[in-house]
Amino acid sequence: MLKKICLLFLPLLFVISFVDAQKRLGNETAAQKKQRMEWWTNDRFGMFIHWGLYALPARHEWVKNHERMTNEEYEKYFKIFNPDLFDAKAWAKKAKAAGMRYAVLTSKHHEGFNMFDSKYTDYKVTNTPAKRDLVKEFVEAFRAEGIKVGFYYSLLDWHHPDYTIDENHPQRPLKNSDTAYARLNKGRDMAKYRKYLYNQVTELLTKYGKIDILWLDFSFPGKYGKGREDWGSVALMKQIRKLQPGIIVDNRLDLNDYEDGVDFETPEQVSTEELEKYRGKVWETCQTFSGSWGYDRDENTWKTHRQLLDLLITSVSNGGNLLLNVGPTARGEFDYRASSALDSLSHWMHSNSKSIYGCTYAPAEFKVPANTKLTYNPVTKRLYVHLYEYPSGSFTLPGYKGKVKYAQFLHDDSELKIKPDAGGDEDVVLEMPEKKPGFDIPVIELILQ
Ligand code: GLC
Repeated sequence: MLKKICLLFLPLLFVISFVDAQKRLGNETAAQKKQRMEWWTNDRFGMFIHWGLYALPARHEWVKNHERMTNEEYEKYFKIFNPDLFDAKAWAKKAKAAGMRYAVLTSKHHEGFNMFDSKYTDYKVTNTPAKRDLVKEFVEAFRAEGIKVGFYYSLLDWHHPDYTIDENHPQRPLKNSDTAYARLNKGRDMAKYRKYLYNQVTELLTKYGKIDILWLDFSFPGKYGKGREDWGSVALMKQIRKLQPGIIVDNRLDLNDYEDGVDFETPEQVSTEELEKYRGKVWETCQTFSGSWGYDRDENTWKTHRQLLDLLITSVSNGGNLLLNVGPTARGEFDYRASSALDSLSHWMHSNSKSIYGCTYAPAEFKVPANTKLTYNPVTKRLYVHLYEYPSGSFTLPGYKGKVKYAQFLHDDSELKIKPDAGGDEDVVLEMPEKKPGFDIPVIELILQ
């Protein structure tokens, strides 16, 4: 009997898996995708910029939600937004010096305010005292520095009159109930918002030349949430690919079950330990300097230089990218703490970036020596040993016998002699200077056999 049932269902299973395997938006091959993603996989390090009206209250980019502000209450920020010190060229130079090869700016965040000149709304930067299209200035300045440009665009919109109120909305009910939502959403029409969103993304991808990345944020499917049907994700993604065939898109459109619905995963604010589990996937971790994305004056949990370096190295040593966020002030500058963090990264990257660009995790045959992290460049076949604790005098590479041709410091190409009679049959021992070089985490470059 059981056998019979199984046999009956077999063709059905076949059809289901066939349909599933066919769930695609386009017809790009795996090899074409790899090629499209190549620069991004190589470059590893980008700058995220969260900038909007929320820089004025300066207490988190979710302030409108946290304090349940209405549009009227939030309007005071729109009326005075005037970043008099904004200089897109200065930002671009800063990003470049820090070794960041791409940058992603919030064109609109959840608050619904547009940092660009959109013809579909009046709620935009050109109608504030700033009177300029800041997205345009960003694009031009970063491109001029040779930095790839991307837009963050919030799927959520806490200002648009047709965007229905959900559990993340500032005007959400105190207690979730169907009747409360029905009452609040009377007269709101998501179909209209969906069209608005589609039109705005179309604008962003047609008015500013070649856009390298689109970072859409975010889906939260559920009874009082929003997902692909609300955004019209399938049609939107097709339009994105049509307008900018080379663009790279994140994974927050709720299209995970489409074979080509996601270009990269986005583990957000995760610990360095957690990054290990992303090995083998295509991913970028986004991280803040402190706890908030938008400028937050009184947020004081700033990461140290060593923590930031560790994030960058650990990302690459697990085969991923790091998108490090700056939340500029309402006057249009990087806050002094962000600025000095970027300077310290510049110092390290100037001399050590070869262990970042084009690198990934080391082949399994190389053991990770104590207090180090490894990265590896599969093209040049060089292995990079990041020294978290400096080993004065000598340093042992366990199990590396016969694998190393030459060793040097990465920052100055100065030789680190291999001790000929040390290490037995297994290990390689390097002669190290007593004094640690002037980097928090110095790097040894190994030229392999
Ligand atoms: C979250 C937050 C948002 C931030 C984003 C960055 O989705 O809602 O404020 O922009 O993460 O990844």
